[in-house]
Amino acid sequence: MVWNLAPQTIALVGGTGNQGPPLAVRWALAGNRVLIGSRRLEKARRVAGGLEETLRRLGCEVEVGFGVNEDVVAEADTVVFTIPYRGLDATLTALEDRIKPGTLVISPIVPIEFKGREIRLIHVEDDSAAETIARRLPQARVIAALHTVSASLLADYARPVKGDVVVCGDDPEARRVGMALVEEIPNLRAVDGGGLENAHIIEEFTVLLIKIGRRKRRPDLGIQFTF
Ligand SMILES: NC(=O)c1ccc[n+]([C@@H]2O[C@H](COP(=O)([O-])OP(=O)(O)OC[C@H]3O[C@@H](n4cnc5c(N)ncnc54)[C@H](OP(=O)(O)O)[C@@H]3O)[C@@H](O)[C@H]2O)c1
Repeated sequence: MVWNLAPQTIALVGGTGNQGPPLAVRWALAGNRVLIGSRRLEKARRVAGGLEETLRRLGCEVEVGFGVNEDVVAEADTVVFTIPYRGLDATLTALEDRIKPGTLVISPIVPIEFKGREIRLIHVEDDSAAETIARRLPQARVIAALHTVSASLLADYARPVKGDVVVCGDDPEARRVGMALVEEIPNLRAVDGGGLENAHIIEEFTVLLIKIGRRKRRPDLGIQFTF
């Protein structure tokens, strides 16, 4: 399958939290149609309205779509799972029949648990959250990406989002489209991370990155390769 790169219709499942809204703004600025998904319609409506305001302030007069997760994913070319790992199983159960064949699914999910000051990697039976998604959504083309880009950096629209983003996925065409979507966010560089069997490495590494960021009091810490 060959995709048109842009514009895409991008649905953000759980697009109401930290990571979803700034990704929606960045991709809307690049000319894509974005849809905010939530378990609750009213919450999706409220967040989408706020993002339209943000986009207007940034000089971009566009509509931000919204709906419950089940509805927005059915409309999308690309679906991004901006939900915590603990919600993944229930979300997949709710959405597995709603995602169209051939949909590009992006997982930025880091299987992590915060318990007070403690940060812990969650053991995933499939090795990675991305592989769980791929197993449960055989009709989709699943890639893992954006784990190491902090929401606070993405949401600071005055600052460049510098850094490298490792993109893993078994379908080379899906990986190429995913990398292009990453690079629609100015200054981010997508790095081909190979197959989905490598996703656990970037998910686990991000837990370390978060711990280092905490120690250095830099929650926006990212990564950059020296090439
Ligand atoms: N925050 C970051 O800086 C960052 C950076 C890189 C990657 N990530 C990854 O991106 C994902 C989203 O991060 P986030 O910080 O945006 O998460 P979040 O703010 O904690 O949650 C995002 C949304 O997920 C939905 N949600 C929460 N619990 C859920 C559950 N049990 N079942 C289904 N949906 C649930 C909620 O939406 P509704 O209530 O509207 O349904 C919530 O607004 C995570 O997996 C994280 O590891 C985050």
